[in-house]
Amino acid sequence: MDKKKIEERILLLRKELDEHNHHYYVESNPIISDREFDMMLEELIKLEKENPEFFSSESASQRVGGEVTKEFKSVKHKYPMLSLSNTYSEQDLTDFDERIRKSIGDDFSYVCELKFDGVAIGLTYNKGRLIRALTRGDGIQGDDVTANVRTIRSIPLLLSNKDVPEEFEIRGEIIMPRPAFDRINSEMEAQLLEDGYDPEEIAERLLKNPRNAASGTLKMQDSKIVAKRGLDCFFYALLGENLPFETHYDSIQKAKEWGFRISEHVRTVDDRQGVFDYINKWDKARSGLSFDTDGVVIKVNSFATQEDLGYTAKSPRWAIAYKYKSESVSTELLSLSYQVGRTGAITPVANLAPVQLAGTTVKRATLHNADQIEKLDLHEGDFVFVEKGGEIIPKITEVDLTKRKKGATAIRYIDKCPECGTALERNEGEVLHYCPNNLGCPPQIKGRIDHFISRRAMNIDSLGEGKIEMLYDHGLIKTPADLYKLQESDLLGLEKIIEPEEGGKSKKISLQKKSVANILSGIEASKSVPFERVLYAIGIRYVGETVAKKLAIHFRNMDAIMHAPLEELVLADEIGDKIAQSIVDFFKQSRNIALVDELKKSGLQMEFAGEAQLEKLSNSLEGKAFVVSGVFSNFSRDELKLLIEQHGGKNLSGISSKTNFMIAGEDSGPSKLEKARKLNVPVISENDFLQMIAK
Ligand code: IVH
Repeated sequence: MDKKKIEERILLLRKELDEHNHHYYVESNPIISDREFDMMLEELIKLEKENPEFFSSESASQRVGGEVTKEFKSVKHKYPMLSLSNTYSEQDLTDFDERIRKSIGDDFSYVCELKFDGVAIGLTYNKGRLIRALTRGDGIQGDDVTANVRTIRSIPLLLSNKDVPEEFEIRGEIIMPRPAFDRINSEMEAQLLEDGYDPEEIAERLLKNPRNAASGTLKMQDSKIVAKRGLDCFFYALLGENLPFETHYDSIQKAKEWGFRISEHVRTVDDRQGVFDYINKWDKARSGLSFDTDGVVIKVNSFATQEDLGYTAKSPRWAIAYKYKSESVSTELLSLSYQVGRTGAITPVANLAPVQLAGTTVKRATLHNADQIEKLDLHEGDFVFVEKGGEIIPKITEVDLTKRKKGATAIRYIDKCPECGTALERNEGEVLHYCPNNLGCPPQIKGRIDHFISRRAMNIDSLGEGKIEMLYDHGLIKTPADLYKLQESDLLGLEKIIEPEEGGKSKKISLQKKSVANILSGIEASKSVPFERVLYAIGIRYVGETVAKKLAIHFRNMDAIMHAPLEELVLADEIGDKIAQSIVDFFKQSRNIALVDELKKSGLQMEFAGEAQLEKLSNSLEGKAFVVSGVFSNFSRDELKLLIEQHGGKNLSGISSKTNFMIAGEDSGPSKLEKARKLNVPVISENDFLQMIAK
């Protein structure tokens, strides 16, 4: 194909992909299959890669992100970004309506809209191109988050309608739809659990609610991650000079024609009653939406009337937000259960009489810890108020004292482990109780082995579905190392009844020759799982997959990690005091040293095979030796070292006459810099280095 044809094809693919994005993300009505879409996108990516002169930041291929923003630039808003006056009371709405009537008479209408619970954003388009996206900030200046906003697929990057004004701003709310929020949180929760975090810490680290999630995501440095998080945006205001519209309603309907996502629930109403009807309708119906709304916004429709009414210092006089109170119901507290995690942490859970709340049936609520139970002053048989104030798991806000039974006894927190009977401990300054019987408490033992065999660790999937429990119950395994001692004769004919979930049927498993062979071959195969995953599998608290990888790259083998003092551990990328201390504590325990010894004897990988697996990228650094020091903006230190090796170079730990280059970042050691100067070793930046390998 000649260049002209290629360019035409690229432009056509971009146009069609934009249209399909619109069908899919704005109209929720795709007209081609995901596969067809992916094929077109692949073709576009390939053509753009082969013909870089046709690059465009508006191309559908750029939706996957890639740009990293270290610091968001603060930019002045062309039009200040005001907020709305808020109210929870119908009386205030009546007052608002009467004030307006007094000022301008009765000849006007309102627009009612949902109040989206997210982060305000202002997008500027020039000649149809998205040129800037600013957050509200303090209303006068906001943060430039354009790179991240470009990844949101329902936001058009290029407008092709003829009647699009030369320049305008459109404002809206970036939200995280509930399904995206739930997906991210369940992935994060599973991962944190695997990494050995306590329920309390997990609750702290999870996304609190879709609004926080949207705002946190928008401020992430890596737009590639933003692209995967499923943000969306509803628009609710158009601003600009001499825009050809007389009413707010017309302006946003026009914006819809241009390709912006405008809520289909916007309505014009003629009077106060219309406003109340809209509010009442959505008070009930909003739980059925896939995103959060915390109220309704009421705006005077005509722009001329809006101008007559004017503004106070903070908000327009022509609009008001009515906020819904968060829904709360009363239900009976049936019992408390206490769960024991792999680290021995105890989590209390309230079992409730099932009750409907904001569209779902609630049967359980977390109680976090003993302090919480004490603060609520829970008694046996209490009725409690449950609320879902934007948070994921419903919480008990208070006890309904009017329903407390006479002589009811206060609930006392357990003092013994519900699983093994050991006296619980609570460390000074910590909120959680722990069962200290790490070696004998069944859920802790099984939890550690479950973690060991899990997919991202040793990946022995033939042992899933209750088989660990069966082996443990038959006394065959007490530590992960015992798995490697299992023989066919131990397993054949082993039986277990699996208790059903509510309403299901119980299931009996009995190991036959085939599944025994599967189990044994799965265990055998795990001996070749790379070292970094073995390190993750042994279950050191806070050593998740990423941390394990960083440790493996830095220390190269298990012995080095086992014997490294705290000061050395913190030298590895991303290893802080808390993780380092946890590693030191882990290897202080003789049972953990014994575990590693046994695993080593069974033939598991105890060395980082990085070099062998190293993907060679070029030989451009052949014969050159580098010292990397300091903090960098695009890569971590270890990533730079890896790049050096991938391009055939060598890493040295200290400056000597053998050093060819020192790559210095921020905060690189002054003594190293001094030495480099003395020995005439060129000091280069991260960018110099990247250019070196780009050649
Ligand atoms: S109109 C002059 N419409 O709520 C103010 N705002 O508390 C223009 N919001 O700053 C805002 N949904 O971030 C408007 N349908 C809607 C909205 C909405 C959510 C947010 C927006 C605003 C805040 C005010």
